[in-house]
Amino acid sequence: MRSDSTVISCREEDKAALREAVTSALDAILDSFHDDSAFSGINPYELRKSISKLAFLPEHGEGWDAVLHSLRTDILPHMLRTWSPSYMPHLHSPALIESIAAELIIAAFNSSMDSWDQGPAATELEVRTIRELCKLLGYGEGSDGVFTSGGSQSNISAAIALRDRFISEHLGWDVKKRGLPDDFRKLRIYVSEISHFSFDKGSHMMGLGYDAVVKLPADHQERIDLEKAEEIIRRDYEAGLCPFLIAATIGTTDFGSIDSVQGLRKIADRYGMLLHADAAYGSGAVLSSYSGRLGDLSLADSITVDFHKMFLLPISASALLVKDGSVLDAFQLHADYLNREEDEEDGYINLVGKSLQTTRRFDALKVYVSFRMRGRDGYRKIMDTAIGNADYFYSRIASDPDFIAPIKPELSSVVFALKGGDDRNKAARRKLLAEGIVIGQTVFSGRTMLKFTLLNPVLTHEHIDMLIERIRNA
Ligand SMILES: Cc1ncc(COP(=O)(O)O)c(C=O)c1O
Repeated sequence: MRSDSTVISCREEDKAALREAVTSALDAILDSFHDDSAFSGINPYELRKSISKLAFLPEHGEGWDAVLHSLRTDILPHMLRTWSPSYMPHLHSPALIESIAAELIIAAFNSSMDSWDQGPAATELEVRTIRELCKLLGYGEGSDGVFTSGGSQSNISAAIALRDRFISEHLGWDVKKRGLPDDFRKLRIYVSEISHFSFDKGSHMMGLGYDAVVKLPADHQERIDLEKAEEIIRRDYEAGLCPFLIAATIGTTDFGSIDSVQGLRKIADRYGMLLHADAAYGSGAVLSSYSGRLGDLSLADSITVDFHKMFLLPISASALLVKDGSVLDAFQLHADYLNREEDEEDGYINLVGKSLQTTRRFDALKVYVSFRMRGRDGYRKIMDTAIGNADYFYSRIASDPDFIAPIKPELSSVVFALKGGDDRNKAARRKLLAEGIVIGQTVFSGRTMLKFTLLNPVLTHEHIDMLIERIRNA
């Protein structure tokens, strides 16, 4: 590739340079796919040593061919291959093929979502996408949302915006302008004991601290125990604390268990609280034949939806949806250099006013491309395969004397263990990692457990059978 080309442009030589860079990178990616293992098995010390030896910022640029050669030999062979049927440790999915092409479009145009003049089509398509997503999840008129960098940012944004709304309505206090009210130490957020840690991080960032996050006990199905939850909230309320938010997890990180939105809505209403649904994981099931398992998410005041989990879109892609769009005013600020009010009065939408971020990626494009290309039936097949594979795997090991599997899956994750104790399970996972099979590990009731997070739609029952034998013998 000619190195006198810098950025892409309408000049033929720059188009040729882009074409060459992209096609040669694509060849390098495809050439690195030798077999369907997930990982080369290299140990961390060897990999660190080889990466530490790479040239980094040479005095004179080495050119594309040298960089490509290094990518081929030093980096790509040790990339984790998310598309492998032997990769299942995390809520970390392979990417749909068309969405990888969409990523190229996103990078080529490099739109930014903060102001209309940085992404006219991007802004209008995100607005349309948010409107359609609100409909899909059952929200009506007045709802709104914004794309974010991931489930953590969606959850934290929800907690901030709902806190401001609660304090404004209940205490007549403007947090945005005046900061936290004097009694802020009484504010409490209620989440499942197995909720995602983004609520703790968010509470820290909100100036409330970890102590403001009350962990509600989970029942034998790993869902919030509604009776105990109400007891805890009532006790806090009567003690003069200020419970303002409950977060239901719609698909917990390990088990995929689903808290009852209906039950938590009732509790929230009894104590004048707001309700968030963290459906970062489970929202994908809205397009499955099992959507009834999610409950009525539209009962929540806000919903986190991650597209880089069950929806199989490249990182990052998440949205925060809110039932009452005006709660996103928490993030509205005007700057003369960016989002002038006079432009907005004339119809130019500046999405920076709904977001924690300023510069922001055009991730909505990936949702548009894959939703339109696959349709409801295409996505239904993908989601049903993931959930069906979890059912199959669970049914296989639940009746196998070498394994224990404490909870029947509701989504696509199964937590299980080999009988024989923590060390046997830890050793099995490490051994498989070195063989290119990457499975998860977690703790349940104080015991080390293994975990399959099944997102990959190409995974077959035969492959699952093979994995069971590999784990048994590891
Ligand atoms: C239930 C749940 N919520 C939120 C998150 C955070 O999402 P992200 O990693 O996109 O920030 C995760 C991540 O796994 C999750 O499992």
